[in-house]
Amino acid sequence: MYHLLTRCRACGFGKPVVAEGIKREDNDERLKSVLNLGVQPLANNFVKENEMHSGYAPLEVLYCPRCTLAQLSVVVDPEILYRNYAYVTSPSETMREHFQRLEHDLIDEGASMTLFEIGCNDGRLLRFFREHGWVVGGIDPAANLKAEGLPVITGFWGKDKVCLPANSWSDWTPSVILARHVFCHVDDWHKFIAALDDIANIDTLVCIEVPWAQDTIQMGAFDTIYHEHLSYFTLHAMQALLADTHWHMHKVLHYPVHGGALMVMLRHNQNGVWQQQRHVSVDEFLANETVCEYSWNDLDQKRRGLVIKLQELVKDLCWKRKRIVAYGASAKCTVLLNQCGFTRREIAFVTDTTPGKLYRNVPGTDIPVVDEGALTRELPDYALMTAWNYSAEIVAKEQVFKDKGGKWIVPMPELRML
Ligand code: TYD
Repeated sequence: MYHLLTRCRACGFGKPVVAEGIKREDNDERLKSVLNLGVQPLANNFVKENEMHSGYAPLEVLYCPRCTLAQLSVVVDPEILYRNYAYVTSPSETMREHFQRLEHDLIDEGASMTLFEIGCNDGRLLRFFREHGWVVGGIDPAANLKAEGLPVITGFWGKDKVCLPANSWSDWTPSVILARHVFCHVDDWHKFIAALDDIANIDTLVCIEVPWAQDTIQMGAFDTIYHEHLSYFTLHAMQALLADTHWHMHKVLHYPVHGGALMVMLRHNQNGVWQQQRHVSVDEFLANETVCEYSWNDLDQKRRGLVIKLQELVKDLCWKRKRIVAYGASAKCTVLLNQCGFTRREIAFVTDTTPGKLYRNVPGTDIPVVDEGALTRELPDYALMTAWNYSAEIVAKEQVFKDKGGKWIVPMPELRML
C-alpha cells in the first residue's frame, strides 16, 4: 500500500536507513524526523456506516537539511488515493474570485488563452476559463470524476503518456500549463518536470500553485498534513530540483487561497529573452523564505497546544450539554478530528456539499457527513469550522445559524469563537 521515502525528492539528499556502510545512528546522512502524527487514516477515504474502515498509514514528516524540503516518510500508492477520489474543487465564491485573479495574472504574463491543466479534477477551473474564451484541456487520474464536455484525459501526469484527445486542438501547444495544488501530491518530481517537454515549447509558461510551507507553519495548519500531501513546498527545494533541468523560476506570486499558496511560474532556459527577464520576485521570495528544521518543531508545538485546547473546550461544552457539529468534511477535518480523538458523542455530524462524502463517516471516526442544510435544520449550539480556508464566505452564508444564537469555533490560525 505504501513505500518508504529514503531520499529527498528535490535534491536527492539522504541515504536509506539500511544501506551499505550507513548505521542507524548515522543521522547526518538521513532526512530528519520533525513531526509525527502516528498511524492515520487516508483523509479522503469516506466510508459508509457498515463498511470497514481501511487504509491507514504512518503520517510522519521528514526534513531535508540540504534543500529545506519537508516530506512524508511514506508514499501511499497513488492508485489507492486518486483513482476514486472524493475531493472536488469547491464551487465557492472564494474559488471563483481566485480563478479570476489567476486569469488576470496569466494574461499579464502574455498567455495567449490556451491552457492545459494537470490534475484538473472535475474541470471546474477549465470550465471557468472556457467560458472566458480560452481553449482548454487537461489530465486527471480520478476515473470517477466526469469533466463533462471537456477534453480531459484520465491518467497520471508524468507516468501516463499524454496524447491530447483528437479534436480541433489536437496538435496545439498550450501557452500555459497549470498545476494547481497537485505538485505536492506527486512523488517523482523529476518525472513531473521531464513530462513538460511532451506538450510544452520554449514559450510555454508553466504555473505551479502550491501551499507554501512558510504559510503552513505560520498558520499552525498541521491539519494540512495528510497522505496526499507528500511534500511541504519551499522555493529553495524548487531551486534545487530545477538545477539539472532546462526550466528556471521566472516569477513568484503569493495568493491567500487555502491558507496561503505560492504561484511559481517557470520558463524554458532555451528562450534567451525569458532568461534575461527573470522577475525580481524570485530572489525576493527566496531571500525571505525562512523555513528550517526548527520551524517544523514550532509547528509541532502549536499542534500539541491546539489539540489540548480544543479537546478541553469540547469537553467543557459537552459537560454543559451543548450540541457541537463541524462544518466542511475537508481532508483537514479528518486530520483534526482524528488528532483530537473526537467521536459522534462530541461532534454530532459534519456538514458538506460534496455528494461523494455524504452519508459516509469521516475517515477514522464514527462521525457522519450530512448535507449542509442540517446546520439550520438542527441548529446546534456550536459549529467547528473545519473548512477554515472558506471561513469568511461560510459565516456570511450561514447567517441564520448565527442569528439563532449559534457560535463558530474556528481552529486556525488561533482557536477562537465567532
Ligand atoms: P477544501 O478546503 O477545499 O479541501 P481539503 O479537502 O483539501 O482540505 O475542502 C473544503 C470542504 O468544505 C469541501 O469538502 C467542500 C466543503 N464546503 C462546504 O461544504 N460548504 C462550503 O460553503 C464550502 C466553501 C466548502
